[in-house]
Amino acid sequence: MRKHHKKLVLALFSLFTVVFSATDPNDFAIIKAFREGLENPELLEWPADGDDDPCGQSWKHVFCSGSRVTQIQVQNMSLKGTLPQNLNQLTKLQRLGLQRNQFTGALPSLSGLSELQSVYLDFNQFDSIPSDCFDRLVSLQSLALDKNNFNASTGWSFPEGLQDSAQLTNLSCMFCNLAGPLPYFLGALSSLQNLRLSGNNLSGEIPASFKRSTSLQNLWLNDQNGGGLSGTLDVVTTMDSVNVLWLHGNQFTGTIPESIGNLTVLQDLNLNGNKLVGFVPDSLAKMPLEHLDLNNNQLMGPIPNFKATEVSYASNAFCQSTPGVPCAPEVMALLEFLGSLNYPSRLVSSWTGNDPCSWLGLACHNGNVNSIALPSSNLSGTLSPSVARLGSLIQIKLGSNNLSGQVPENWTSLTSLKTLDLSTNNISPPLPKFADTVNVVTVGNPLLTGGSPSNPNPSPGSGSSGSPPSNPSSPTKGTGSSPGDSSEPVKPKRSTLVAIIAPVASVVVVALLAIPLSIYCYKKRKDTFQAPSSLVIHPRDPSDSDNTVKIVVASNTNGSASTITGSGSASRNSSGVGESHVIEAGNLVISVQVLRNVTKNFASENELGRGGFGVVYKGELDDGTKIAVKRMESGVISSKAIDEFQAEIAVLSKVRHRHLVSLLGYSVEGYERILVYEYMPQGALSKHLFHWKSSKLEPLSWKRRLNIALDVARGMEYLHNLAHRSFIHRDLKSSNILLGDDFRAKVSDFGLVKLAPDGEKSMVTRLAGTFGYLAPEYAVTGKITTKVDVFSFGIVLMELLTGLMALDEDRPEESQYLAAWFWRIKSDKQKLRAAIDPALDVKDETFESISIIAELAGHCTAREPNQRPDMGHAVNVLAPLVEKWKPMDDDTEDYCGIDYSLPLNQMVKGWQEAEGKDLSYVDLEDSKSSIPARPTGFAESFTSADGR
Ligand SMILES: *[C@@H]1O[C@H](CO)[C@@H](O)[C@H](O)[C@H]1NC(C)=O
Ligand SMILES: *[C@@H]1O[C@H](CO)[C@@H](O)[C@H](O)[C@H]1NC(C)=O
Ligand SMILES: *[C@@H]1O[C@H](CO)[C@@H](O)[C@H](O)[C@H]1NC(C)=O
Ligand SMILES: *[C@@H]1O[C@H](CO)[C@@H](O)[C@H](O)[C@H]1NC(C)=O
Ligand SMILES: *[C@@H]1O[C@H](CO)[C@@H](O)[C@H](O)[C@H]1NC(C)=O
Repeated sequence: MRKHHKKLVLALFSLFTVVFSATDPNDFAIIKAFREGLENPELLEWPADGDDDPCGQSWKHVFCSGSRVTQIQVQNMSLKGTLPQNLNQLTKLQRLGLQRNQFTGALPSLSGLSELQSVYLDFNQFDSIPSDCFDRLVSLQSLALDKNNFNASTGWSFPEGLQDSAQLTNLSCMFCNLAGPLPYFLGALSSLQNLRLSGNNLSGEIPASFKRSTSLQNLWLNDQNGGGLSGTLDVVTTMDSVNVLWLHGNQFTGTIPESIGNLTVLQDLNLNGNKLVGFVPDSLAKMPLEHLDLNNNQLMGPIPNFKATEVSYASNAFCQSTPGVPCAPEVMALLEFLGSLNYPSRLVSSWTGNDPCSWLGLACHNGNVNSIALPSSNLSGTLSPSVARLGSLIQIKLGSNNLSGQVPENWTSLTSLKTLDLSTNNISPPLPKFADTVNVVTVGNPLLTGGSPSNPNPSPGSGSSGSPPSNPSSPTKGTGSSPGDSSEPVKPKRSTLVAIIAPVASVVVVALLAIPLSIYCYKKRKDTFQAPSSLVIHPRDPSDSDNTVKIVVASNTNGSASTITGSGSASRNSSGVGESHVIEAGNLVISVQVLRNVTKNFASENELGRGGFGVVYKGELDDGTKIAVKRMESGVISSKAIDEFQAEIAVLSKVRHRHLVSLLGYSVEGYERILVYEYMPQGALSKHLFHWKSSKLEPLSWKRRLNIALDVARGMEYLHNLAHRSFIHRDLKSSNILLGDDFRAKVSDFGLVKLAPDGEKSMVTRLAGTFGYLAPEYAVTGKITTKVDVFSFGIVLMELLTGLMALDEDRPEESQYLAAWFWRIKSDKQKLRAAIDPALDVKDETFESISIIAELAGHCTAREPNQRPDMGHAVNVLAPLVEKWKPMDDDTEDYCGIDYSLPLNQMVKGWQEAEGKDLSYVDLEDSKSSIPARPTGFAESFTSADGR
């Protein structure tokens, strides 16, 4: 009975609506305009004209309340067209679902739609958005605008009007051309839970309003184009409710704050591809995250044992490659020092790995850091007490920076310290009391008693025992003495000055390029190396328009100077016994005449090698310095090749590293095209691996092979990452790895070097390189990334292990191609043992490191480029092995080198040499010149005719 009653009421009610709820005429006009704007309205299946009642007749996709339209829902219908501009006259509209169609043109304003709760406009092609679009949308909860072309040419930002939407919960605008800073009010929207703004052009810092957000759960700000968001992460560490935090692909800087651990509900943290520095905080390691991505930053120190389920941290500057393995104590002390200087980016990019001896501004003796020399390096921050843990420090030179705070008391415990130069900074008193033997220079620190010379210890009672300059040969550090001059060496103990350049040719590099560099070295070389007795380098003064550089090499025997001068007709003026050539350093041009002289007119007895490109000759300068002179046969040179030749020089003169063979200069005269390189006396690695018997050489020991592998890895790492731009060698092979007298290796032959493409993208190039070393993807598609070099490096490792050439058609078919064969045998211990070069004496401990190298070789030659490690990883694997073998070292421990990785704005001004086991070093000095411009071009191969 009761049931029937209900039915009757319902029937009456529907009758009532049919009769009385005809659509509001204005709403209907807009619905009609909506239909008329479409190119394909038939998809709506609305009745033909005449049936004028969308509400009354319940048209598809339109929903009403009474006579008023409350919803339009047409998502994913392939509709094409534009929207009526008066859409906001549908004043009762609650939901608008237009997503996933092909709407174009201007989005109409939605302003004033006070009942509007959800708006989905995503995945369309709207091309503009009015600035009053979101005014007074007081009921709005969800707004999705992703993937539209809004204001594509100028970009746009959320208009302030949106802040009236206090109930807004979901705001999504990915790939929708947002530009400029993130609006402040977004962080203050107290209901906002999901903010998804990936893939826009946002820049600037996350506003402080986000700090106080207690509602945000998903914050996606990743992958901003054009640089991206910047600033530190401090602001996100107070967003208590955040669950997913995607900040990857931006430019966030600074350290990861310890307070990140306060984000207790965080599950997914992505910081990939920012510029974060410093240690991974313990609190982060302990977070039980589901997903943590730290790849591609500059994080340092040890890799912690992470609690996160899924974690990745590749391409950082960690000291080790294995989680939980601590850094060397010196490394930790230095990184803390770096931290107190706020991680200056120039040092951050150099201070990576676990071997501080190769770091910018440091010098070592017997593997211990004995010099920190960073004058005029734009450093700010304070001095870290951790430096006191570097017990072997002899000098600390930090003059002409902007350092503040006090000198840590425990620096006085540095017992070997001779020089502490803090001149021209802003150090505060009190200055701790150093021993008399320490030359403390504090002139130019206004807070320390007005800058009177040499450690006037202001603390009472210090009496006369302050810290007087211990070096009588050093003139008073008067106020007139500019801090840049404060590099006078620690007093030489004896006068037997021996120049300290290892490959003598490097002297020429210095001269030719005016490359500012640090020379660090400890002598005690056992070979027959004949050093000139002294070396004075006159670097190019950047303010001097005359780019001529001179070096004077005083010869060993009589001390007379021979200036290498040159250019144009070699002016050979006999000054004393030596002779002079002036070499134009501005562009490295060397006159052909000079090269004729030094090679005895390209005498065949001086021939070092021959290839498709021409002939390489040995040359010898007056003082015995040897150089390698590569003379191209004139027939080889097309006019295109000449341009490339020039372009290559532009690149190579800027890529400098102690494990890359340096280009010293070149000649272009008439048909002559000559390149001059430093001379590597032991020749190519291939000779020592494959032809040692016929060349009457000793086979290379395993220890030497490890050293060579590490040297090559370091050189390649530099080429890939550390040079001002990333370069790809494209022709790494054992015949392009040259050995010095000490069997330390340098990579040579940059004829095929390419500038690496930016980012992940690969570029397609003309195939070049050498069969047997070619990465499969490169051989097949010509697509090139730095990973093609990693592949070639893997092949070189296989050669070092087996003594077999990468490709040898004389071998049985299954082993002709070394890589393919090696992959088959490498995991079988027995087979691997049998594959080891018979010239090696394999003991069990050798086999252990051989297995590691075999594994690395496999890793480097993975089929998929993205599965190959980067060179930094290879360095990290190799360095500890080399370290381990050091105790058995007899002749290579003392290593002299020039660190070409230094930026060009540091110059050699002097050097110091002491006897016996004492150290020698040359200070880093600043010059006003800035970091060199990026190379503007690069050459396609001019040696590609050399088809080896
Ligand atoms: C859109 O519609 C197509 C078919 O018309 C369907 O395959 C697709 O899954 C839909 N997409 C969404 C996101 O609903
Ligand atoms: C988008 O561009 C139009 C002009 O094309 C302009 O009127 C409008 O204010 C811009 N929108 C925003 C949100 O900046
Ligand atoms: C907001 O988005 C989430 C999914 O991300 C969804 O579950 C929720 O219902 C949305 N809230 C509103 C008000 O639309
Ligand atoms: C956040 O963490 C830091 C250290 O990790 C702590 O000192 C601080 O009190 C925490 N702040 C809050 C609001 O919990
Ligand atoms: C100096 O102080 C720092 C920090 O207080 C400490 O880590 C270090 O061990 C101290 N070094 C010495 C040699 O006392």
